[in-house]
Amino acid sequence: MKGLILSGGKGTRLYPLTYTRAKQLIPVANKPVLVRVIEAIKEADVTEIGIVVGHTAPEIQEALGDGSEWGVKLTYIPQDSPDGLAHAVKIAHDFIGDDSFVMFLGDNVIEGGISTLIRDFSDNDWNSQIVLKEVENPSAYGVAELREDGSIQQLIEKPEVPPSNLALVGIYMFDNNIFKAVNSIKPSGRGELEITDAIQWLIDNDYTVFPHVHKGWWIDTGKPTDMLEANSHVLEEIAPTIAETAEVDSESTVDARVTLQDGAKIINSIVRGPTSIGKNTIIENSYIGPFTSVYHNCEVRNCEIERSIILENSRVIDIEKTLRDSLIGRNATVKRSDNKPSGIKMNLGDHGTLWV
Ligand code: G1P
Repeated sequence: MKGLILSGGKGTRLYPLTYTRAKQLIPVANKPVLVRVIEAIKEADVTEIGIVVGHTAPEIQEALGDGSEWGVKLTYIPQDSPDGLAHAVKIAHDFIGDDSFVMFLGDNVIEGGISTLIRDFSDNDWNSQIVLKEVENPSAYGVAELREDGSIQQLIEKPEVPPSNLALVGIYMFDNNIFKAVNSIKPSGRGELEITDAIQWLIDNDYTVFPHVHKGWWIDTGKPTDMLEANSHVLEEIAPTIAETAEVDSESTVDARVTLQDGAKIINSIVRGPTSIGKNTIIENSYIGPFTSVYHNCEVRNCEIERSIILENSRVIDIEKTLRDSLIGRNATVKRSDNKPSGIKMNLGDHGTLWV
């Protein structure tokens, strides 16, 4: 069994953060989503992993290297243009060879990992296993319609009128027959080779596709609100740790569900978990509330922050109101100014949003 992670795409719904960064490298609970994907695959004892990369290949390669840091062997597979998920499978054929494989979209986060799914797939002679999840907005995803006996009637990519509320999660297991499928289908209306159409081809040609309905949470981290939600879920799931080199002074209160990474400093502050404070980040005279991740080398002084993500090297200083439900990029500054004339002043990135 091999692993195949798809990590191309422009991440337009996460602009401006993704102008300068691959969306899969944005951290959730202070760890890039893509690293969480690698760890989930490794946990299922799959260590040979191909990563299909697009225009952000250099920074993904720089962040992950050969994968040895996570005990896996990574092979990079360049996709010259974003021609669809089934196209990505097609170009991965040499890497996969005759093996079965699990394909994982590099921006998906799922509760409980994939070990059980992989075991079920290995223990049965299905040609494919897909994962479905009940959602409120099925039109945003591939959608499955099941028969009364639980088998798949049909799969449709982003239907205007969805036949059910069961979305296709970005985790799929295939045997080698998927290559016949991806070589037989034609591009969709949006000009892409859709994995949904390839799986429908398997069904139409009497291959067995087992639909597993996932009961835990699942997030496709496409939009800022999804990132915040994924961050909350993952913070709740992880076991908190306090690094030996982290410092908490006697004026501060840090509760049991807080993670402090190497060199984090908490001075005269209250930190309530689940929360993660990154390496060498300083929190001073502040309140950090639940479901917040502050990444490495940040500075937070005289502020209250709740349910937010702050990326590396950023500063949030002297803000009077509580900052909540916010996503702040790298090297950003949010600061009070007492200069006259008073008013709101900003240097806001393209596609950024400021709520005042
Ligand atoms: C892709 C798939 C879709 C699936 C989704 C899950 O959509 O085409 O079937 O439901 O991933 O994340 P995309 O996110 O590329 O629009």
